[in-house]
Amino acid sequence: MDPDGSVGQVDGRIGHEGSRIDLDEVSKIYRIGDLEVTALDRVSLHVDESAFVVILGPSGCGKTTLLNMIGALDTPTLGSVRVDGRDLTSASRSERAEIRRHAVSFIFQTFNLFPALTAFENVRFGADAAGRRDDASDRAELALEQVGLGDRVRHFPHQLSGGEQQRVAIARALASGNPIMLADEPTGELDFRTGVQILSVLEEQAAAGMTVLIVTHNREISRIADRVIELSSGRIVSDGPPAGSRAEIGELQW
Ligand SMILES: Nc1ncnc2c1ncn2[C@@H]1O[C@H](COP(=O)(O)OP(=O)(O)OP(=O)(O)O)[C@@H](O)[C@H]1O
Ligand SMILES: [Mg+2]
Repeated sequence: MDPDGSVGQVDGRIGHEGSRIDLDEVSKIYRIGDLEVTALDRVSLHVDESAFVVILGPSGCGKTTLLNMIGALDTPTLGSVRVDGRDLTSASRSERAEIRRHAVSFIFQTFNLFPALTAFENVRFGADAAGRRDDASDRAELALEQVGLGDRVRHFPHQLSGGEQQRVAIARALASGNPIMLADEPTGELDFRTGVQILSVLEEQAAAGMTVLIVTHNREISRIADRVIELSSGRIVSDGPPAGSRAEIGELQW
């Protein structure tokens, strides 16, 4: 126990020199009027390239807040964040924007598709924004195939089911080709078969050298990861291989 009576946390800095993601004693405290919420509480973490990591924890434990720190969408109240060797804490606005465009792809919990763009255009946007203009259309086509939506390219988001919209969001992140993929509940809206397909695609990206962080509250999904980082009330309470033995994606049940 810490002196303040709280349960101590695990230091997630088990990575090596030159890791892609480094968090050092990161806290995020939100203030709304008199109310203070400590969404992250002195979290330290290293993640290497070619990693397939699950961040596991119940609703409200700080998972999305953590991804927002890594993805340069928000800044910590205390502590430092380095991504791809660059210090986000001291970075200028334009440097942060550069990281968002070229280093990190986000699959948002709420998809964030452009309603006036078709599935294809949404996905091509992901490649364009990452500076891959020359082959953006080819990348978009391939990414939509990979998520099983090759026959939905001309659909607008409102003409797609929730799970299909989620898959477009995943395809958009894939099309960018950025080295870090942050996936916030990527299987949340998906049936089992489609969820397995998406997890397989993400696993392949990690095997090919990408750093993939998947956020979920579903312990079953965490069984397929190389490394499971468990959060509780903004702290890392465990970090290591999945409890029990690592499972193949095909063995999962949810
Ligand atoms: N912008 C904000 N302003 C104030 N409080 C916030 C803000 N964003 C998050 N919080 C609070 O911080 C805590 C962590 O939120 P976060 O969204 O990171 O949780 P989560 O683990 O992603 O949960 P879920 O599984 O429900 O998505 C919650 O208690 C939430 O109410
Ligand atoms: Mg969340």
